[in-house]
Amino acid sequence: MDVRVFKNAEEIGKAAAEIYAELLVKKPNAVLGLATGATPVPTYKNLIKMYEDGSISFKDVVTFNLDEYCGIDKNDKNSYYTFMHENLFSHVDIKEENINFLDGNAADYEAESRRYAEAIKAAGGIDLQLLGVGTNGHIAFNEPADEFTDEAFRVTLTQSTIDSNQKYFGDIPMPRYAMTMGIGSIMRSKKILLIATGEKKADAIKKMISGEVTPRVPCSILNNHADTIIMLDEAAAGLIK
Ligand code: F6R
Repeated sequence: MDVRVFKNAEEIGKAAAEIYAELLVKKPNAVLGLATGATPVPTYKNLIKMYEDGSISFKDVVTFNLDEYCGIDKNDKNSYYTFMHENLFSHVDIKEENINFLDGNAADYEAESRRYAEAIKAAGGIDLQLLGVGTNGHIAFNEPADEFTDEAFRVTLTQSTIDSNQKYFGDIPMPRYAMTMGIGSIMRSKKILLIATGEKKADAIKKMISGEVTPRVPCSILNNHADTIIMLDEAAAGLIK
């Protein structure tokens, strides 16, 4: 793991966007794995700036998002589909047909998981997967568990994730389930970029950096990936030496 520490979230946003830009210049039809949540917002802002100044285009890019809530419409203001359009897709020249999401309302979750796996394979695999991390060490919505997962599946969100994300839903109780890419699907990405900011992430980061690989700390699996960059701000790196 290539661990890099930055002053703050803004600096990570610039550096993470640079990694994406380098790839898009080399491979304009790259397959990007994308994440939602607060952490990647500065990265997306910088990517929009780079698109606006003409240094990158998303015209031939294909994207796969990590996860989507179950039980809310994809056009709901809190869906990850809406989040991605508001924070990136509506501001760049990506084609709607190149945007891929898991369907949180699929009638058959196993068939939906197979569909997503086949779509990723047909696109040639994910070139660069962006990840945030939960305070409990989750990546995508792979919560601490007894075993690592493989392909996408329907997950019951843990109380820790509900406590972190309820704020986005205001008074409406947030969904208890989501469809998420599995650990295997994430690990098959050619390159992974995990970004983490704030002291709430410091414990999960410390456990990941310790090198012990355990499904109780899902992000620790990244120790087994050959090409992973970890970008931390000083607060998220606060417990590592
Ligand atoms: C989002 C996702 C989650 C988040 C994580 C951190 O697509 O898969 O794993 O990356 O919950 O969220 P924030 O960035 O809001 O702290």
